[in-house]
Parts: sequence; structure tokens; C-alpha cells
Amino acid sequence: MFQASNVSKVFKSKLFEKDVYALTDVSFKLERGVATGFLGANGAGKTTFIKILLGFISPSEGKIVFGEELGGTRIEALKKIGYVPERPYYYQHLKGRDFLMYMGELSELSLDQVNTVIERYAERLVIKFALDREISGYSKGMLQRLGFLCALLNDPELLILDEPLSGLDPIGRRDIKDLIQELVREGKSIFISSHIIPDVEEVCEQVVCLDQGRLVYQGRIHDLLEKTSSGRVRIVYHKDNEEKGLEVSPSDVNQRLDSLIDEGASIVSVTPHRARLEEVVYKI
Ligand SMILES: Nc1ncnc2c1ncn2[C@@H]1O[C@H](COP(=O)(O)OP(=O)(O)OP(=O)(O)O)[C@@H](O)[C@H]1O
Ligand SMILES: [Mg+2]
Repeated sequence: MFQASNVSKVFKSKLFEKDVYALTDVSFKLERGVATGFLGANGAGKTTFIKILLGFISPSEGKIVFGEELGGTRIEALKKIGYVPERPYYYQHLKGRDFLMYMGELSELSLDQVNTVIERYAERLVIKFALDREISGYSKGMLQRLGFLCALLNDPELLILDEPLSGLDPIGRRDIKDLIQELVREGKSIFISSHIIPDVEEVCEQVVCLDQGRLVYQGRIHDLLEKTSSGRVRIVYHKDNEEKGLEVSPSDVNQRLDSLIDEGASIVSVTPHRARLEEVVYKI
């Protein structure tokens, strides 16, 4: 969908203060038709990258080129991108529905197009009930749901979500994750920055990981986990009224099982150990 090449961003500081190197030499390509998680600690540079991608700020070095499927240029691409900002600001005095109409108008969409999207998604995003209320009275989660609906107005090819799940309750997170998975099945491409790694593991096929502004991994989650779990086997057993577990290499399994049984343990399970994305991401 886009190719980032050697993107760097330095925020120049005032005299006697240090410059902030928010991004350093970041290059990666976003695959089409999959959900990609964008991971990194607070301040890793995720939001900065997204702002550069959308053209809100310019990079100090490097560039981002949009693919043909997005029209090639940024102007064209923006028409096919939906974006949910990390810290949205919506016009407080407008009602939810009027805000969506206004946003639709700015995007040169017809009233019909806007209504179709509201009809299709407002109910399942559990925001329909509030569309005729003023935004000033919305809760944080309601704002996020409205933002999500707004991002779908132009039937985007690429959806960019900056921390879409952070303000939501567990049911809200489920709703949004289900919707993300459905959109991917429809062929949309999704780029999600998040700290909630298990959620990313659930909905994304790929990840891009930043560490202090530098790219440390890009690729399939599956490959990352395979590489790092390196064929360990987990044995769970019951002994002295307690359930215990240990990990051994495959060649040691038989011997360990024999000795556990000799010690009077009963074996509960023997399974290949698959690392969780969270453990792996902390390591890298
Ligand atoms: N306008 C700005 N001026 C100066 N420094 C900035 C500016 N915007 C971002 N930064 C700095 O750039 C670095 C990256 O910030 P960014 O917001 O991109 O991180 P992030 O990965 O989105 O973090 P979080 O997970 O907390 O949202 C931080 O050190 C931040 O302080
Ligand atoms: Mg951020």
C-alpha cells in the first residue's frame, strides 16, 4: 500500500535543549489486504510516523511512496484512506450525525453515501443511540466509536488506526476487533498502532516494531514466533498436589518424562511451546 524509505524525523529543540530523534532511517513496505500491527513503547515514534504518512508533518529525511492501488500520489491516497487519530478532536457543539454529515461533505461524499455507512456500521459500533446527541456529552469510548465510524465514511482501502482500543471497555474492544477482522476479510488493508499486544496478536498477520525511532522488526507474527520459540517443548505435570510446568529441548523430552514419572509425578500434557508475541516483543 505504501513504501517508506529511510524516513527520519528530528524535532529541533530550543537553544540548550537536545533535539528529539523521533524516527531514524525507517524503511518498510505495508502489505495489501492484511492487518499490520505497529508496535513500540511510548515515544517510539508511531504517531510521528503516521503523521508523516498522512502529510500532517514532513520528514526530515526520506520519503513515503503510495502504491498504485491508492492512486500513487498522497492527494489521491488520502481519498482512499480512513484514519482514526490517537487524540481526536471533534466539534463539541455538533451532534454525532451532523458531524458525520459535515465530514462526509468535506470528503465530497453524497448524503446517500454517508447514510449508507451509518446504516451499515452505527448499530454494531454501538453508537447509533447517541448520534442525535451533542458530542460534548460523549464519553471517551463513544468518541472512539464515532471516530471509527467517521473513518469508514469514504469506504477506505486502507484504514489507519492510532491506538484504536485504548479507551474502550472489553466489549468495545471485542466489537472493534471483530469489525477489523471483517474488514480484512473484505480485502481492506489495516495499519494499527497499539500497546495492547495480545489484541494485535489476535487481529494482525504482520507487525512493524519500532524501538526509539528505529525499525527492529517487520514481518509476519508467525515467523517471529517460530524463530524465537526454537522448538522448546513444555511439560506440565502434577506432583505434591500442585501443577507444575517446565520447558525442555525436544531431545530431552523422553528422559525428563521418565524421571518425572519415577519421582511420582503424573504427566498432564506435553506440548510444543509457542512463545506469545508479548514475550518476544519485550525481548526485541
Ligand atoms: N511536535 C513535537 N515536538 C517535539 N517532539 C515531539 C513532537 N511530536 C513528537 N515528539 C517526540 O517524538 C518522539 C516520538 O513520539 P510519538 O508521539 O511519535 O510516539 P508514539 O510511539 O506515538 O508514543 P505513544 O505510544 O505514547 O503514543 C517522542 O520523544 C516525542 O516526545
Ligand atoms: Mg502515539
